[in-house]
Amino acid sequence: MSLLIRNGMIVTAERSFVGDVLCEGETIAAIGENLEAPADAEVVDATGRYVFPGFIDPHVHIYLPFMGTFSKDDYESASKAALIGGTTTLIEMCCPSRQDDPLEALALWRGKAEGLSACDFTFHLGVTKFDEETPAKLKKAVEEEGVASFKVFLAYKGAFGIDDNELYQTLKTAKELGVIVTAHCENADLVSALQAKLVAEGKVGPEWHEPSRPVQVEAEGCHHLMSFAELTGAHVYVVHTSCAEAVQAISEAKARGVNAWIETVIPYLVLDSSYAERPDFEGAKWVMSPPIRDKEHQPILWQGLADGIISTVGTDHAPFDFATQKHMGHPDADKAVNADFSPRGEAANFTLIPNGIPSIEDRINLLYTEGVKTGKIDLQTLVKVGSTEAAKIFGLYPRKGEIAVGSDAVLVVYDPDYRGTISVETQTMNTDYSGFEGVAIEGRPSLVTVRGEVAVRDGEFVGTLGRGEYLKRKPTHF
Ligand code: URP
Ligand code: ZN
Ligand code: ZN
Repeated sequence: MSLLIRNGMIVTAERSFVGDVLCEGETIAAIGENLEAPADAEVVDATGRYVFPGFIDPHVHIYLPFMGTFSKDDYESASKAALIGGTTTLIEMCCPSRQDDPLEALALWRGKAEGLSACDFTFHLGVTKFDEETPAKLKKAVEEEGVASFKVFLAYKGAFGIDDNELYQTLKTAKELGVIVTAHCENADLVSALQAKLVAEGKVGPEWHEPSRPVQVEAEGCHHLMSFAELTGAHVYVVHTSCAEAVQAISEAKARGVNAWIETVIPYLVLDSSYAERPDFEGAKWVMSPPIRDKEHQPILWQGLADGIISTVGTDHAPFDFATQKHMGHPDADKAVNADFSPRGEAANFTLIPNGIPSIEDRINLLYTEGVKTGKIDLQTLVKVGSTEAAKIFGLYPRKGEIAVGSDAVLVVYDPDYRGTISVETQTMNTDYSGFEGVAIEGRPSLVTVRGEVAVRDGEFVGTLGRGEYLKRKPTHF
């Protein structure tokens, strides 16, 4: 099986140049000008198009038991949607409950993907409890299961959240194992106190979600993690960074020598807090944590990407239906779905809205349209933050995140002349709404390959379910 992509503008994190890419089997065999097509090759004319390395989403939830429900996608809908949007590798958060065994959880999450996913995948292993058995289990996950990153939650008290002793032990163990720790940084006690105060004041609609988790809550969480990272020497990666205050807290720590990386996610770059303020409970569609902030934070995030202070853009894809699941937090008793689910025993309110926005399909088109086309970032930065940096940080480079001889033939031929509009009517993600409904896009992948096999042609999935491989990784963060 050979594929020759001819005369495209090849774009890597370092440079852009016009040339051909020859894929033989699952890998890139040659890069150059006027390459000869092997007899069996499919030849794709990429004149006027970009050729990017397959994009990596470093933060997705596909199987997620959360807030009394389950996220809506499975690996069929999610991997198809990812590929249509140019994402060829998924790093999913494996999120066991505090009662679950981490190795069993990893097997469960892997089992949901294996045999079904059309694209390659791997996992950040959630550490949601730390007891005397945990170090041996984590060591086994790293040495035998190819785990190279953990996930901790400073938020979601009583669910995934860990306490400070557990955080310290997890970071110490990660440092010994050479594993990077990804972290959701919000101060859980502050969130609980502010939620209780707002609800007691009768402020129960989705528009109160952001005030219950203001920027100080996130910045405190970041500062907290940075202090623990500084003391343990662990390498840390802050997921879904939403605001200037959080970027500042992490940047200051980086300046003092803390090994920290910053991720932001596409909703924060494109949407703002007004969406969650939409009337008649519609705002629930945009409830995620940390919340989507005021518009004034967006230029700081874009500048952080351009300057390299922010390393990656993920999605935090967390799909829940509006009509049913988001309605678990409807304040009107007759509209609240599953009103029995209330950990605090109170009537339904914004604290019961499942947190998350579907976006696995839209990240690259939005980054290109809102970032590259407007001049906020250049093409090299698009590739860096959408692919190469995640590959480097999470032990996938140069197999992924690069266009080089020997790298996997995961490529995106991108059509900058395409014009379209994002809509639930045309999306592949399995939700009853799009968080980006009506947003215009100026470009889309015209061809996407998964290790040499064409998986997408002009917006249509033509790949193979189950072809996706579990990517074993080696620790690199000693
Ligand atoms: O609101 C969010 N972010 N939902 C998914 C879970 C998480 O915190 O990443
Ligand atoms: Zn999170
Ligand atoms: Zn998440």
